[in-house]
Amino acid sequence: MEASEDLRPFAIITGASRGLGAEYARALAARGYDLLLVSRDKPRMDRLASDLAGRYPVTVDMEAADLAQPEAAHRLYAAARQRRGALDLLVNNAGFGLVGEFVDMPMARIQEMLRLHVDTIVESIRLFLPGMIERRSGGIINVSSIAGLFPLPCMAEYAATKAFLISLSEALAEEVRPFGVHIQACCPGSTETDFHTTAGVRPSNPLGLQTPAKVVAVSLAALGRGPTVVTIGWRGRVLALLSRVVPRAWLARAAARRMRTSKGSD
Ligand SMILES: NC(=O)c1ccc[n+]([C@@H]2O[C@H](COP(=O)([O-])OP(=O)(O)OC[C@H]3O[C@@H](n4cnc5c(N)ncnc54)[C@H](OP(=O)(O)O)[C@@H]3O)[C@@H](O)[C@H]2O)c1
Repeated sequence: MEASEDLRPFAIITGASRGLGAEYARALAARGYDLLLVSRDKPRMDRLASDLAGRYPVTVDMEAADLAQPEAAHRLYAAARQRRGALDLLVNNAGFGLVGEFVDMPMARIQEMLRLHVDTIVESIRLFLPGMIERRSGGIINVSSIAGLFPLPCMAEYAATKAFLISLSEALAEEVRPFGVHIQACCPGSTETDFHTTAGVRPSNPLGLQTPAKVVAVSLAALGRGPTVVTIGWRGRVLALLSRVVPRAWLARAAARRMRTSKGSD
């Protein structure tokens, strides 16, 4: 028997038009979540929504929005409240990479990244978390990156925003643990999505790319059960270990050499 809308859990996924966000959408629809998909690309979300709604007994809605705009989190909150009173899972996934020397980066692109990766995510969490605490259930996945564990020359601002998300998630996870709310910083390595094309680079990981299906499966399996900071596979575990034991100045120097020769990373 099909669960009624009020009984089905409700999730918002940002950056759901493609890549990891679309994969979170597929995985959560298969788990019986009603979804609100968010990105700027309405036609792509339309196609994904009708595909998912055709396959699973769930409601899939969408909201076309530029989440780098100043009022984006408030609009997202209003859009969610229009559809459902309670949110069970927020996946803050929308993001993009910038590769190159910091001083060559257009200021507008840096500001766009800060709004998308930091401001909108912080504001969204601040808006949605009180309801989860009150209901004593809910989860938030902040899609960070393995790059957030390192100082990363030539992706300095990208890695710094992702490090911010890791630190924020670790601290908030402890604040809300007593209320049964789970927070995760998901830290993929290089993954097969449009991320590298958008950043204008070719993926350069000599060990190959992870699949979105693997990243999302590991992330969802760990939510509420695994650690707050989730890395993917053995490569993720090795890099996380290196980030703890190797002095950061050495890491920065080695990363600068690698980035300048390959012009690409996670
Ligand atoms: N792929 C990797 O190697 C990798 C590794 C580590 C971490 N990550 C992280 O994973 C997350 C997802 O990236 P991906 O790999 O799936 O890349 P992707 O295929 O390029 O997807 C990025 C998603 O973010 C959305 N987005 C970008 N700017 C937006 C904006 N201003 N407003 C609303 N939505 C916006 C895009 O939607 P529209 O353009 O359609 O609006 C798209 O749905 C990012 O946070 C990224 O930093 C990726």
